[in-house]
Amino acid sequence: MSTTTTTTASKAGKTITITPTPPWTPLKIEGEIPSPYNTPKFQLEVIPLHPTFACELRGVDWSKPVPLEVYAEIREVVDKVSQITELVVPYTDSSISFSSYFGELDDVRPYIDAGRKNRLSMPELFDAGNIDPHTGEVAPLSAAQVIGNKANEQFHVDSSFNARRAGHSLLLAHVLPPEGMGGATEFADSRTAYDDLSEDMKKRLDGLVANHSLFHSRKKAVPEYFADTDPMKLPLSKHKLVQRHEWSGRMNLYIASYVHHIEDMDPAESTTLIEELLAHVSKPKYRGTIPWFQEGDMVLWDNTAAMHRATGGSYEGQFPRDMRRTTVKDMSSQKYGLNGEGADWRVGLP
Ligand code: OGA
Ligand code: MN
Repeated sequence: MSTTTTTTASKAGKTITITPTPPWTPLKIEGEIPSPYNTPKFQLEVIPLHPTFACELRGVDWSKPVPLEVYAEIREVVDKVSQITELVVPYTDSSISFSSYFGELDDVRPYIDAGRKNRLSMPELFDAGNIDPHTGEVAPLSAAQVIGNKANEQFHVDSSFNARRAGHSLLLAHVLPPEGMGGATEFADSRTAYDDLSEDMKKRLDGLVANHSLFHSRKKAVPEYFADTDPMKLPLSKHKLVQRHEWSGRMNLYIASYVHHIEDMDPAESTTLIEELLAHVSKPKYRGTIPWFQEGDMVLWDNTAAMHRATGGSYEGQFPRDMRRTTVKDMSSQKYGLNGEGADWRVGLP
């Protein structure tokens, strides 16, 4: 397959080149993956995918609304058992109602207010795909949403840049690109990565506050396109870098490509520390890939216990990848970080 490139005018009037990312080869999983088991009551099949986190879940009847007590059993798997934070499940058209068990649904209004056209019927569906909302065709590589997807190829947690951060996200594959052309999603176990830090580093991180910015991650991914954007002049959301994950009791390194700087730290030192921590969580042993096998599959993750990223592929600009996400606002006591109790400002981009 030939590589398609395109040029696009940046906001500063310069032209920049956007290139499809070569298809991702999943990293080899090292260590022992726990054995499959069944949940106690409904006998749901849990198939671990990684030594420390992630599993596939089978046995849920998604053809009708999921009963609350089935949700409760799934939730236990998500929160605690074998440090699992993601699961792959078969088709549902009720991802919105299932997500709402996890908390208050977030929506795309900040993006619409910033000028984006909503392609999907409900504001609770985040469009993570590459379909141009104006034409219904595959978006050209020059489109703002493709540039946003490029930024999502950096490890992140969803919506940490909002005053109230995100809790769980549920991503549904509506249309997948042809096999071999990419489109996998990768995850990183930020709880185990925290556990493995040295005691000196844990002491150093204790109490530190990170400032998160949507614009920072966009600028980091495509600097030419965002040359005129200064994240320091735009909203920054403050969250502690190390937090106890309330649903499991474990500590978590709450970091993302959105982290612009550490509060009250020399800028150079802050950048070095952020890059060091991102490199640490990005070590192969903490990572696992979900390749997406069939349309209708869903992946659920807890943004307060794991990071994730898109991996791009040669399908970009050529074949549709229609992904729809529901996300709930964090329900933990740390949901507002240091942004003030009840703060509800949100950020969006076209
Ligand atoms: C998201 C996201 C990754 C992907 O929807 O938040 O990061 O693979 N998606 O599309
Ligand atoms: Mn995301």
